[in-house]
Amino acid sequence: MRSCASCHGRKLQGQPLWQLDDQHSHRRAPAHDETGHTWQHSDEEIFQMIKFGRFSTTPPGAVSYMPAFEDVLSDPEILEVMAFIKARWPLGLRVSQEMLNPGFTGMPARANEWTLPPNCTATLQRWRAESR
Ligand code: HEC
Repeated sequence: MRSCASCHGRKLQGQPLWQLDDQHSHRRAPAHDETGHTWQHSDEEIFQMIKFGRFSTTPPGAVSYMPAFEDVLSDPEILEVMAFIKARWPLGLRVSQEMLNPGFTGMPARANEWTLPPNCTATLQRWRAESR
């Protein structure tokens, strides 16, 4: 609430118009809830973004409008913020995000209860049958 909500929103909804692809795109803080794209990054990437204000893959010269929190939050505090954000994602998104982590670390409890929607499952079965 103290460090992130002013930009990313009290309900993780992001800055107004954050999705807009105009001259301010990437300067507005994106949503951290399921409407954003934070869940499309591994734990390592999210951690780096919070600690250093950039992903490790961001080119050195590129300007980032995300502040670095390395002097503000300890590593355990960064992990706590990440846990707070992740706890608000629907189970499917949590599973999808944890699959980006090496060894699928952090797979949420009850992950085995999650299934793809029926139409997705049918596509997957067809794909498996065709690739045999
Ligand atoms: C001054 C405004 C501001 C504050 C405060 C701020 N952020 Fe950000 N944050 C941004 C902006 C702007 C971006 C988008 C950067 C970009 O696209 O290059 C961003 C991006 C991110 C991303 C990457 C999301 C993605 O999917 O690419 C994460 C994770 C993140 N912020 C976490 C946090 C956390 C956690 C805090 C609090 C500890 C925080 N931010 C505080 C402005 C802010």
